[in-house]
Amino acid sequence: MADASEAQRRIGLRHPIVQGPFGGGLSTVELAATVSNAGGLGSFGAHILDPDGIEDLAAELRAATDEPFALNLWVSDHDPGGDPFSRDAFDAVWPVFAPFFREYGLDKPEPQARYHPRFEDQAEAILETRPRVFSFVFGIPDAVTLKACRERDILTLGAATTLAEAEALDAAGVDLVLATGFEAGGHRPAFLEPADNNLVGTLPLTRQIAARLKRPVIAAGGIADRAGIDAALTLGAGAAQLGTAFLACAESGTSDAHRDVLFSPRARHTVLTRAYTGRLARGIPNRVIAEMEARAADLPPFPVQAWFLGHLKRAAIEAGDEDFASLYAGQGAPLLTHRRAGDLMTELTTASPARAPAPAGA
Ligand SMILES: Cc1cc2nc3c(=O)[nH]c(=O)nc-3n(C[C@H](O)[C@H](O)[C@H](O)COP(=O)(O)O)c2cc1C
Repeated sequence: MADASEAQRRIGLRHPIVQGPFGGGLSTVELAATVSNAGGLGSFGAHILDPDGIEDLAAELRAATDEPFALNLWVSDHDPGGDPFSRDAFDAVWPVFAPFFREYGLDKPEPQARYHPRFEDQAEAILETRPRVFSFVFGIPDAVTLKACRERDILTLGAATTLAEAEALDAAGVDLVLATGFEAGGHRPAFLEPADNNLVGTLPLTRQIAARLKRPVIAAGGIADRAGIDAALTLGAGAAQLGTAFLACAESGTSDAHRDVLFSPRARHTVLTRAYTGRLARGIPNRVIAEMEARAADLPPFPVQAWFLGHLKRAAIEAGDEDFASLYAGQGAPLLTHRRAGDLMTELTTASPARAPAPAGA
């Protein structure tokens, strides 16, 4: 690979590779530490953890690696109507979910005071634990938090889905900007306009942001092999962030059923849907998407939709089916070949084809 980029130098990486964080319980210490120990940046999606959980997590990561790692949060922790979510509102949406709860033998759950931890409390825990990188999506932390990060030598990495969002992150003084194209698995983390308004691809978005900003740019979305990383670097990115390729590895927190689908021909077709959480995300069509899309007008906002679906997802996985599993996947899924994060890192950091042949089965 070429000389270390500014992004690598600032973070302290041997390789221009970031393992994308996974929220919703799909990140693991083992995965993040494997990637960090191999010279990339391991990340842990901590948005569902409370502050104590974040502090425990940082201690576990430090026990597993001496290398830099990123902790990741969602800046906006609810959509309009999602907090507070009254008991009446709860009872009004319950009929949407009741038949599926019954199908899995689940009782009606109790309404909660909150359905997601408060971002401000979580950010305090990040400041306490001082990860090398604090990455975030769905907005920009306030100026006080960003200043506190600088004082503690925590690098900030914020996600942009458009050039305007990249400029907003730049103006706020965020250290590194993630250009996240609409090919990406997981959520489309727009924050200036509704997510569906600007479905910009990784290629033009990375190029636009790298050409406009002086800050280092990291490209994400549809990158799953060394050729994709080389392409991102050619566009001016200082590193590439890969999600789906690491999610498919045994060290991630997802289910074997999800991994099997990622390696199957079904992964050739992904869609954007609000079914999983109430926010737009990319995944592979299955029953939960069909059932929820059919009731789209009646679904509650994030994070309440995610909370109801969490019950069904756990029950489905326990029952051994993937009907209500969230089959998150990016458009690069048909390129996947590795099932262990160490093997993936080896390929990403050693093979250097000028023009990569497509992998068998893609
Ligand atoms: C299951 C899943 C969960 C994700 N959760 C988060 C998250 O909590 N925070 C975040 O910043 N990005 C999250 N992402 C985005 C990834 O970190 C990464 O940017 C994205 O997957 C890159 O696109 P790719 O999947 O095409 O490689 C998630 C992606 C997936 C597939």
